[in-house]
Amino acid sequence: MLIGIRGTFLDFTGDPFFQEEEECTRFFSDGLLVIENGHIIEIGNFNDIAPKFSSLSIHHYPDRMILPGFIDAHVHYSQIGIIGSFGKQLLDWLETYVYPEEAKYVDPEFSRAMASLFLDQLLRNGTTTAAVFATVHPQSVNAFFSEADKRNMRMIAGKVMMDREAPQYLLDTPTQSFNDTKELIQNWHRQNRQLYAVTPRFGITCTADELRAAENLKNLFPDVYIHTHIAETHREIEYTLQLFPQCSDYLEVYESFGLVTPESIFAHGIHLSDSEFQRLSEAGSTIAFCPSSNMFLGSGLFPLFKAKSHQHPVPVAVGSDVGAGTSLSLLKTLNEAYKASALLHQNLSPLQAFYLITLGAAKSLSLDHLIGNFEPGKEADLVVLNPQATPLTNLKYSEHATPLNIKSLSDHLFTQICLGDDRSIEKTYIAGQPVLF
Ligand code: GUN
Ligand code: ZN
Repeated sequence: MLIGIRGTFLDFTGDPFFQEEEECTRFFSDGLLVIENGHIIEIGNFNDIAPKFSSLSIHHYPDRMILPGFIDAHVHYSQIGIIGSFGKQLLDWLETYVYPEEAKYVDPEFSRAMASLFLDQLLRNGTTTAAVFATVHPQSVNAFFSEADKRNMRMIAGKVMMDREAPQYLLDTPTQSFNDTKELIQNWHRQNRQLYAVTPRFGITCTADELRAAENLKNLFPDVYIHTHIAETHREIEYTLQLFPQCSDYLEVYESFGLVTPESIFAHGIHLSDSEFQRLSEAGSTIAFCPSSNMFLGSGLFPLFKAKSHQHPVPVAVGSDVGAGTSLSLLKTLNEAYKASALLHQNLSPLQAFYLITLGAAKSLSLDHLIGNFEPGKEADLVVLNPQATPLTNLKYSEHATPLNIKSLSDHLFTQICLGDDRSIEKTYIAGQPVLF
């Protein structure tokens, strides 16, 4: 069955950090997207392409902005219950709030209930793909992937590997971690839309044997992701280098175990050296920029424009990093990204911002052949955004040139970054199907 979606479309065909914005932005003020079996088969001006399709069931969204589904490059589903926990910095926050909460995921029923709630909240916020930490318990991963698969959402997730420097009840061993992860990869990686990430928590909670287990898994299953944290706080970096005294910097810890690859996602990366940026650039690994979390825990300001420079370009995507981040909304997270960059006297443009949560993320995660924009052949994950959903966005909307056109696009998008949230998301489509939330 052919489905047509009609409305105002925006997506990207290039990177606005490195190209003129007009050159890499695609815009149809009255557009039509044609979907067959969950995949995009055509996009264009409504008047140009509608006549080609005689039997089309059209979903018409006048005065709405239709964007590719948002991609959250770093989030912990197991921390949804401790979002907004007061008064600590990273290492104390982990001990005080995170580890006791993650212990609850030993219960598969609890895991399933939280996975279900979490995924519905992603959909409500227009997030259609995410790279997700579960917990050390394999049952937390089974619960997550089952719920994601039920919703047909394209997800990346994995069992946390951690064998020291946390409460005993949350530790595995290198052998157990290897065996459990191997089984999870065999059961879930590329099962429908699900993708696996080998997930060592970070250097502090992983012995050399645990990181070697991660390396062995990556060698055995070369196309899986690696997902971990790096250089979030100074205390964390110091302690990591005490635990790995043979390494001269944090990245070398992961390099020593073959974990710095094109499929690697490193959350935070706030305090990386020039040399570490250079080596990440050469490896083609991704940094997940988590501005809400970075400011909530007082960790620091990620130098986004240093990563997105010609000197040593590193793939960057944006992570909500709930529960240290305070919202699952990537609109609200972009608001924080704008402010974090402003504190470094740099202006993140609205188009650059939306690139980071759509095509930029898809490219960083090597998923741009499947998602990230409206190219024919891709999976039809998309967001219908109401730019006038609240009294204040409505006020701002009428101040900008309307109806929405290419010239006023940046103004409209910036309003959504500053004032938008889940109320702006009118509808989310997964593989061509509108979903309820
Ligand atoms: N570093 C290691 N574990 C975590 C975590 O759960 N959250 C954050 N923000 N940083 C971490
Ligand atoms: Zn994290």
